[in-house]
Amino acid sequence: MKIGIVGLGYVGLPLCIQFVRSGAQVLGLDVDSAKVDALNAGRSYIEHIGSSAVAAMVAEGKFAASTDFARVKDVDAVIICVPTPLNKNREPDISYIIKTGENIAPHLAPGTLVSLESTTYPGTTDEDLRAVLEAGSGMKAGVDFHLAFSPEREDPGNPDSKVQLIPKVVGGLTPACLQKAVALYGLAIKTVVPVSSCRVAEATKLLENIFRSVNIALVNELKVVYAAMDIDVWEVIAAARTKPFGFMPFYPGPGLGGHCIPIDPFYLTWKAREYGHNTRFIELAGEINTGMPQYVVSRVAEALNSVRKSVNGSRVLLMGLAYKPNVDDDRESPTYHLMDLLRAQGADVAYHDPHVPVIRPTREHSHWAGEKSVAWDRETVSSFDVVLISTAHKAVNYQELADWATCIVDTRDAMSGSKVRDGLVWKA
Ligand SMILES: NC(=O)c1ccc[n+]([C@@H]2O[C@H](COP(=O)([O-])OP(=O)(O)OC[C@H]3O[C@@H](n4cnc5c(N)ncnc54)[C@H](O)[C@@H]3O)[C@@H](O)[C@H]2O)c1
Repeated sequence: MKIGIVGLGYVGLPLCIQFVRSGAQVLGLDVDSAKVDALNAGRSYIEHIGSSAVAAMVAEGKFAASTDFARVKDVDAVIICVPTPLNKNREPDISYIIKTGENIAPHLAPGTLVSLESTTYPGTTDEDLRAVLEAGSGMKAGVDFHLAFSPEREDPGNPDSKVQLIPKVVGGLTPACLQKAVALYGLAIKTVVPVSSCRVAEATKLLENIFRSVNIALVNELKVVYAAMDIDVWEVIAAARTKPFGFMPFYPGPGLGGHCIPIDPFYLTWKAREYGHNTRFIELAGEINTGMPQYVVSRVAEALNSVRKSVNGSRVLLMGLAYKPNVDDDRESPTYHLMDLLRAQGADVAYHDPHVPVIRPTREHSHWAGEKSVAWDRETVSSFDVVLISTAHKAVNYQELADWATCIVDTRDAMSGSKVRDGLVWKA
């Protein structure tokens, strides 16, 4: 089986590795020639995906990367894993999907299966993608080629998360499309979950992410209320999770981050308007979650105030730039919002992150590009007026932090396992 995977990022690359391990021949396609060159040279550019896995599949001759989309003519199936961000008006931007459709359509061989994996609103596959594929190929979806949607469930940074073992939901345009898609994913994934349509599969992924966004908002709201009552929300959650049924723990934080949770729910909000509906839970959760950085900064101000200092003029060290623990992915990281808010109030801001030694240039946070992670030693850490923990990486020694820092604001309950002096840690 020859498979083309378009978009060799956090989702596409692990999928390439899994399909190769399952015996397929994989062609990776991307518009970024630097990534293509790195992969063909056997190098991974994503920290938690080892270069050895990439090198092995290149050496075996089972994988090659390319920027030449005409090569899809040789594959049996094309899987699309390109970005689906929001535009500056916070509306869905499916231009990457459309562009991919335009690039592959002229080269599709009859009988090829096209499966979209990018998270998106219901209708993208059977309306938008289908239209560009049919227009560019002159073929009819469900008749001349197959079309499906299967959402990705990647959990970057979780060493127990194995692509092969995560059940995969699949919807097809027709029963024959579904059958083809189930057979494709069945090669590499242990449990494939067929559903009745592409739209159901698209809606399933949105439910999963909205569920998280709403529950994170709930604990974020409770964190603020309980803090006012002098109750530690993390202790409450630890106690509640002893209930063996009907409860699932979610944890508060400094705000949402990453490519999924701050973005995907609003794909549904936008599409719901077409049907005359509002998505009030989604909007409310978004409002609470986006208010978190401001709350955290107010706690930093309180902590500094308690030692007669102001945010203005204080040196603040942010711990953790990545949006989640143990990864190097800083997309949509709330740490950037915290740094912006603190700098706007006159603080002198720096960061430490063992996974992000230097801030790469990005569209959203270009003013931070080139900033370097500060050294990890007593002299450096103790020179800051306050340390703000925004992401709790395992690679950080929190006991050393407790011993070196003069004041800590902790948004992740990261200090709970360390011996700390009275008054050192402020939870936020
Ligand atoms: N990262 C996650 O944990 C995760 C989890 C589940 C779902 N998703 C979804 O999967 C999709 C991809 O996310 P990601 O995290 O892998 O993104 P990513 O930015 O890591 O990777 C996307 C890749 O697509 C390439 N690309 C962009 N435009 C292209 C085009 N026109 N043709 C070919 N390649 C192109 C980019 O160069 C990049 O290598 C998104 O819809 C995302 O919401 C991501």
